[in-house]
Amino acid sequence: MDERVAVVVGGTGDLGRLITARFGQAGYDVAVVYRSAADKARALQQQLVAGGRRCLTLQADISRPEEAERCVAAVLAEFGRIDVLVHAHGWLSQLELFHQCPVTTLQQTIAVELLGVMYCCRAVLPQMIARRAGRIVTLASDSGKVGSSAEAASAAARGGVIALSKSLARENARHGITVNVVCPGPIATDSLQRNTAADPLTAKLTEGMIRATPLRRLAQPDEVVDLVMYLATGGAGFITGQAISVSGGLTMC
Ligand SMILES: NC(=O)c1ccc[n+]([C@@H]2O[C@H](COP(=O)([O-])OP(=O)(O)OC[C@H]3O[C@@H](n4cnc5c(N)ncnc54)[C@H](OP(=O)(O)O)[C@@H]3O)[C@@H](O)[C@H]2O)c1
Repeated sequence: MDERVAVVVGGTGDLGRLITARFGQAGYDVAVVYRSAADKARALQQQLVAGGRRCLTLQADISRPEEAERCVAAVLAEFGRIDVLVHAHGWLSQLELFHQCPVTTLQQTIAVELLGVMYCCRAVLPQMIARRAGRIVTLASDSGKVGSSAEAASAAARGGVIALSKSLARENARHGITVNVVCPGPIATDSLQRNTAADPLTAKLTEGMIRATPLRRLAQPDEVVDLVMYLATGGAGFITGQAISVSGGLTMC
C-alpha cells in the first residue's frame, strides 16, 4: 500500500497534537507545521517515529505566503505527496470589543486565520489536482456562522474560511478533492481552561455559552478530532463544501 501523508498546520496546538497522533495511529506519515513550539514538535516527532511512522517538523509563519509554499515544497521533497491538509492553527488574541481592538490585532487575526488558510491551500492544491485526490479540512469556529461578541475579527476570518472552503470544494470536486470545515463551539482544552482562569471576560463568556448550549457542557477535544479524522481519512468521500458544527446544539445551522 502507498504511504499516505498528512500535513497538520498548527500541529503543536491543543487539537493539532491530538490530530497528529491520530494520523500516526491511522498509518499516515505526518508533517507538523508550527510557529514557535519546537519542544512540542520534537515530542510529537518522537512519538510518531516510535510508532513506526515518519514525521517532519517545520517551523513557519503561515501568514506569509512564501513560508506556506516553503513548507509544502519541503513535505513534497521529503515524502513525495500530500494526501491530506488539516488546518488546526489559530491566532489566540484577548477577547476585546471590536471598537477597542487594535488595528494590528485585526490584521494579525485575518493574516493567520484567513490568509494563512488561503496560502496553504494555494500551495498544496496543484499536486492534489495532479494526483486527482486530496482532502482539506479546516478547523474554524461556529463564530464564522453566527458571529461572536468580543471576537469579531476572528469570526470574520472564520466566515471567510467557510466561504473559501465552499468555493474550493466547488472548483476542485472534479479533481477528486474534498474541502470541508469543522466548526467547534468552546472546547475544554488546556488553553481554554488556562484562559478562563486568567481572564474574567473569557470565564463569563464561557459560562454563558455553556448555559446557551442545549447539551449544557463544553466539547471534549476528542469529540472535535473525531469529526476532523472522519472528514480527512474516513468514508467521507461524498461530503464536500460543508461547515459542520460540533457544539452541542449551540448553533443549528
Ligand atoms: N480550543 C477551543 O475551544 C476552540 C473552539 C473553537 C475553535 N477553535 C479553533 O480550533 C483551532 C485549534 O484550536 P487549539 O485550541 O488547538 O489552538 P492552539 O492550542 O492555540 O494552537 C494553535 C496552533 O497554531 C499554531 N500557529 C499559530 N499561529 C501560527 C502561524 N502564524 N503559523 C504557523 N502556525 C501557527 C501554533 O503554533 P505554536 O504552538 O508553535 O505556537 C499552534 O500549533 C484554532 O483555529 C481555534 O481557533 C478552538
